[in-house]
Amino acid sequence: MAGNSSYQKKTMAAKQHLLIISIALLISFCQCDPDTLQDFCIAELKNQPFINGFPCKSPKDVTSDDFFFAGLAQEKDTDNILGSNLTAGNVLSFPGLNTLSMSMNRVDFAPGGINPPHSHPRAAELVFVMRGCLLVGFVATDGKFFSKTLKAGEVFVIPKGLIHFQYNVGKKTATAITSFNSQLPGVVIAANTLFGSTPEIPTGVLTKAFRVDDKLINEIKSKFGN
Ligand code: GLV
Ligand code: MN
Repeated sequence: MAGNSSYQKKTMAAKQHLLIISIALLISFCQCDPDTLQDFCIAELKNQPFINGFPCKSPKDVTSDDFFFAGLAQEKDTDNILGSNLTAGNVLSFPGLNTLSMSMNRVDFAPGGINPPHSHPRAAELVFVMRGCLLVGFVATDGKFFSKTLKAGEVFVIPKGLIHFQYNVGKKTATAITSFNSQLPGVVIAANTLFGSTPEIPTGVLTKAFRVDDKLINEIKSKFGN
């Protein structure tokens, strides 16, 4: 009898281990947005409560328009300090993307314009040059810089979470279409994040990090509204 109960305990412990290992494996395999549980789930952006993602519009109210987005069709004005303009096609502007793990942007560039160094915490990015000539680059976690000058029709991939940029090195305007394996990749623009946060990062932290004096840090902060 006693032998039987110790055998049962061992079997139970083995099952628990198996369950924990399976959950760990499941988590490590899931590197992008979670998989879909139905064909579609048009985001009901105004609905409460907040959940991980957005609740779905009732399928009986879904129409073809929910799967259509014309927001990337128009070229945007690039007459600004960066000489670029980004139009986002993520779940917030295109609710039909909800739960589909994908999104797409358009970036227009004046000659010399840049999409400044930034990263996407939730997605890798494909950069497709639609017209013009762009220098595209990212820095890996070991500090190595990878880049290419792309012309129309060419593609560069930016691994998830790494700092990257695009720079129009051509004489004419340029346009890139970028796509992501997330419905909402998120964006961290390096300069704005460090110098324009609210509340601001203490100047002493930035003087040490950048090895410069207060005056320079405060001057840069003032350009980002701090
Ligand atoms: C370009 O880098 C983009 O994030 O759309
Ligand atoms: Mn990007």
